[in-house]
This record gives sequence, C-alpha cells and structure tokens, in this order.
Amino acid sequence: MADSALFPLNDEHKMIRDTARDFAQKEIAPIAAQFDESGEFPLETIRKMGALGFMGLQVPEKYGGAGMDTMSYVLALTEICKADAAHGVVMSVNNSLYCHGILTFGTDEQKEKFVRPIATGKAIGAYSLTEPMSGSDASNMKSRATRDGDFYVLNGRKSWVTSGPVADYFVVFMMTDLEKKAKGISAFLVDGKTPGLTRGKKESKLGIRASATSELIFEDCRVPAANRLGAQGEGFRIAMTVLDVGRIGIGAQALGIAEAAYEASVVYAREREAFGQKIGEFQGIGFKIADMKTRIEASRLLLYNAAMAKDLAKESGERFSLQASIAKLFASETAMFCAHAAVQIHGGLGYSRELPLERYFRDAKITEIYEGTSEIQRLVISRAELGLR
Ligand code: CAA
Repeated sequence: MADSALFPLNDEHKMIRDTARDFAQKEIAPIAAQFDESGEFPLETIRKMGALGFMGLQVPEKYGGAGMDTMSYVLALTEICKADAAHGVVMSVNNSLYCHGILTFGTDEQKEKFVRPIATGKAIGAYSLTEPMSGSDASNMKSRATRDGDFYVLNGRKSWVTSGPVADYFVVFMMTDLEKKAKGISAFLVDGKTPGLTRGKKESKLGIRASATSELIFEDCRVPAANRLGAQGEGFRIAMTVLDVGRIGIGAQALGIAEAAYEASVVYAREREAFGQKIGEFQGIGFKIADMKTRIEASRLLLYNAAMAKDLAKESGERFSLQASIAKLFASETAMFCAHAAVQIHGGLGYSRELPLERYFRDAKITEIYEGTSEIQRLVISRAELGLR
C-alpha cells in the first residue's frame, strides 16, 4: 500500500522503517516462538537492537542516541512488534518511560549517567510506578522516600515492573509527603545494584512472555539526593508526562501485532479452499479482512497524529495526552480485534502453536491493560472533552 497522504514519510523515516523491518524479520521472527514458550529474556537480540540504536532512538546524539523524531520511533517499534511484541515492549519502555522522563526533567549529569548507557544499548532501563494496591489509581501509592541528609531512604513494594528482573537502572516513584497526595510524590533514579533493592519473583504471564516482569522490594534503600528526578513533589506530573509518550509506544506495539495478524490472514484467505473456493471469496471472511484493514489504517493515522503532536509539543510545550490516549485506545482494541479475527480465519490452525496467531492473540491483550487500561484512556479522553481537567 502507498504511504499515508496525510503523513508523508521522508527518506529518514523510510530508512529506519526498512532497517527495523529487515532486522526484525531476520533476527527476531525466527526465535519469537521459542522465547515465548520458554519465557526466557532474549538478551542477545535486545543487545543487538541496542547496537542498532533502537533503545535510544529519540535520545540526542550528544547522549549516545540516534536523535530521531517520534514518527521514526513509531515506525521502527511497529516493525519490531510485528515480529515479536515482547522485544517491542523492552524497546518501548527504554525509549519512552525511561529515557524520555530523564531527558525532559533530568540534569546534564543525570542524562550522562543514566541515559547514555541505555541509549548505547549497554544497559536496560525500567519504570516503576504501580504498586500492589495502586494500579489505575496511581497517585494512591504507599511506598515512602524519606530524606536523610544527602540521601533519600526508600521503602515499599512496587509491582508489574517491565524488565524488573533484568534492568540495570530504574525510574521509581515514591511518596515523599503522604498528606499532599499526588503533589507528595517524587521520582528517583535508582541503580539496580543499590543495597536494599531486591527483585521479586518473575511473573508468569499470558502473553509477551519473553519480556521479564517482576516486583521490586525496597528495604531501607539509600539513594543519593542527587538522583531525585525533578523537584520534590513533582513526581506525579513526571509519571503522567512520561506515560503520554509511553502510550504512543504501546499504540505502535498494538499496530505491529494487528498488522502481523492481518497479513497472515490475507495470505491464508487467498490460499485455503473450502466448499470448492478460496475462503477469502466468502463474504464472512472477506468482510473480516475489510474490517481488520480499516481499523489498522485508522490506528496508523491516529498514531502518526499523536507522534506529530508530541514533536510539535517540543516547541509549544502543549500536552498531547488526548492524542496519545485516543491512539493507544483505538490501536490496542484494533490489535485485539485483528488477533481474534485472525485466529478465527485460520480455524484449528489458528488455535495451534504451530503458527504465531495464538501468540498474537495472547500478546494483544496486554496492550489494553498496561500503561493505562482502556478504561483509563476513556477517562483521560472524556475528562479532556468535557473540560473536567
Ligand atoms: N501530563 C502532565 N500532568 C498531568 C497529566 C499529564 N498527562 N495527567 C495529570 N496531570 C497532572 C494534573 O494536571 C494534576 O496537576 P494539578 O493538580 O497541578 O492540576 C495532577 O497531575 C493530578 O491529576 P489528576 O487529578 O487528573 O490525577 P488522578 O489521580 O485523577 O489520576 C489518571 C489521573 C489519568 C487516572 C492517572 O492516575 C492515570 O493515568 N492512571 C493510570 C496509570 C497507569 O497508566 N499505570 C501504568 C503504569 S506503567 C506499566 O503499565 C508497567 C510497565 O512497566 C509498562
């Protein structure tokens, strides 16, 4: 299909998309099923993605990154997720939840120390907001950071941390002033080797099984005050600002899964015969193909729109929460729709582990849950439209 008329791609966009596609199909697609089955973290291919610059695509070159725009990021991430969404979420968290926050709110020293190793692919970053009793209601966290001279002492338990078991550095959100609620939260950059920080058991998940997820347990974990990101009490704003970028990434992940499911379905519908004709000639299948394609193209435009809004916001300082939430909501529901349709089109084969359709189906579900459930996206969109925030 021709490129979007509304968002024409420049040569750099096409180059990064084609590089990512080539790498993903050669290096990731052949191992995706094996790592999904074992649940092992694919460190070798993640390191190779780092060497190609995919872990810091938008990080300025002066901090070791590729210095590209958000459209490039969306294009590359979609291609990686088309091959394997588990590799994709590691890339998404590194670029958006981790690097973007430090680049936006950090000091030069923090960028040098905490962004460079991630952007050059030598280390892995993670973001830790959720707690066992506060997921969607993120500001209701209970973990505490108490100032002690030149240090903060961190105590508490964080959950559902993507790359928790393997990350070298974390952006962690903790309460510094319980009475102030959202305005009492602060953000900290924590080296994974800091005494007092332990990683909980690795979660066993329905999908994106090769990405490693765990709890983090903080017991009198002393972090230098110089590692506070932003001002004391600014943490919730940082967490939300960063999630706006993260949601574009998860939208791209969802688009990649949807495209993979769709492309396999088109091939199958053209080849498979039943009742003396190709199954694609039955309207029951043909209309499914039409609905998948329509939703995929709508998701793509919404994502490109959110990517452009984010890049424009660099100058204007305006929030792009609405565009990011709309894109994430629509793309994640499209991923679920397409993966469901693809399994149905393939029948028994779709249900079998011989083909990747059932993996797409399991992987798609998380895009409706993490970095804000579909219900939270609807809340963000409706509040914005009704002028409630
Ligand atoms: N950008 C900047 N500031 C923002 C913001 C944004 N996108 N959203 C809210 N804020 C600010 C508000 O302006 C407000 O500040 P003021 O008081 O100065 O006006 C402050 O933050 C509090 O905002 P709200 O009153 O809207 O906060 P709330 O408690 O009602 O929560 C919410 C809003 C949208 C529900 C939010 O809590 C939310 O997004 N929840 C979902 C959390 C989430 O996505 N968690 C996933 C974690 S990451 C993960 O999934 C794991 C992983 O590793 C991938």
